[in-house]
Amino acid sequence: MTAEQIADLTTASTNHPAPSGDPRPTTSYVLRVNGFERPVADAWIGESLLYVLRERLGLAGAKNGCEQGECGACSVQVDGQLVAGCLVPAALAADCEISTVEGLSAGGAASDVQQALAESGAVQCGYCTPGMAMAVHDLLQRNHRPSEVEARQALCGNLCRCTGYRSALAAVQTVADQRAATVLAAEQAAEQAAAEAAGAAAAEGSAEPAAVPTPAEEQPEELPVYQDAWTGTAPAGEVPVFDEGWISADEHPGVTAAGTGVGVIPAQGYDPTAYGYGPGTSYDGAGYEPTPTHGTSAPFDGTPAPGTPYEPTPAHGTAYEGTPSHGTAYPAAPPYAAGPYAAAPYPGTAYEGIGYPGTPAHGVPAQPTPFDGTVYETTPSPAEDDHA
Ligand code: FES
Ligand code: FES
Repeated sequence: MTAEQIADLTTASTNHPAPSGDPRPTTSYVLRVNGFERPVADAWIGESLLYVLRERLGLAGAKNGCEQGECGACSVQVDGQLVAGCLVPAALAADCEISTVEGLSAGGAASDVQQALAESGAVQCGYCTPGMAMAVHDLLQRNHRPSEVEARQALCGNLCRCTGYRSALAAVQTVADQRAATVLAAEQAAEQAAAEAAGAAAAEGSAEPAAVPTPAEEQPEELPVYQDAWTGTAPAGEVPVFDEGWISADEHPGVTAAGTGVGVIPAQGYDPTAYGYGPGTSYDGAGYEPTPTHGTSAPFDGTPAPGTPYEPTPAHGTAYEGTPSHGTAYPAAPPYAAGPYAAAPYPGTAYEGIGYPGTPAHGVPAQPTPFDGTVYETTPSPAEDDHA
């Protein structure tokens, strides 16, 4: 929807007067839902896609769980993107292709995703199931072979309070396996048909066996589906593609694979030739400042907090003295300057041993202090006490 159209919506009350006393602007538009055009008349422009689907168009598959984008029960696709229908103003989706859970099944039969969810035990109360089905459908459209982590990421926006998520993850794996088996069987059937046709032509003695179109020739050329993420060693000049191993970068001149790398490539629809980079290519540096070499001084651009004392902080650019190497002796402790401890011996000074018998070993009976015979008649004065 263009900016002009959005602006028009704000003045739509002029075109479609609201009921008297209701100041809310309304508008009329057509939604394309599951391939069908569904007109919406005189609707408040603030109505969510979820509300319009359920209350105006009677498509009650998407559920209203939280109405704030948290639970995923209202998940639908808008132009191929999974969205929370409760957060999208319906009027803004007027020119878009909308897919709901009702569109997953053809002729009333459950889709493979819905069947797998049911058979894996992922459905108890079922309130989360339409949103979960849309999330699984969306994942497998983008990624034919999701890893468990990718499946968990894809479902992390869909809350289920009954079942948990193991059975839903199992359903993802089941559908991926089934679809891979179907593709493989079709390829094998095509190869067998080609071989039989070639054999029949040879048997008829034809000098030139009739050309049998290969599956690749029958199909319009499509962009390969790159792996979302890959780690490993690619053959030089090749990039990873789902279900096909590696594909030559020569077919996609924008890619210069270096051979070894760790890359993250957007899934389906990614065209490396449009961007000029792929796994193994290096960034051209535009707008990207390399990390300065360690020790390089750089202009100070931080904003100090008001009143920050700068004294303890070395001025920017001041060379650090460096951490002493391991084993370097600490400098000698400074002498005590003054005060009551000025004359105290340094720690480590040996006691002279005068009258200090040491702590007896545990269990040694205490020795009575020997009586030196002094009889005090009164509290001795300090002078008298000197000989004690
Ligand atoms: Fe939309 Fe919960 S109802 S995310
Ligand atoms: Fe009840 Fe998921 S089955 S919330």
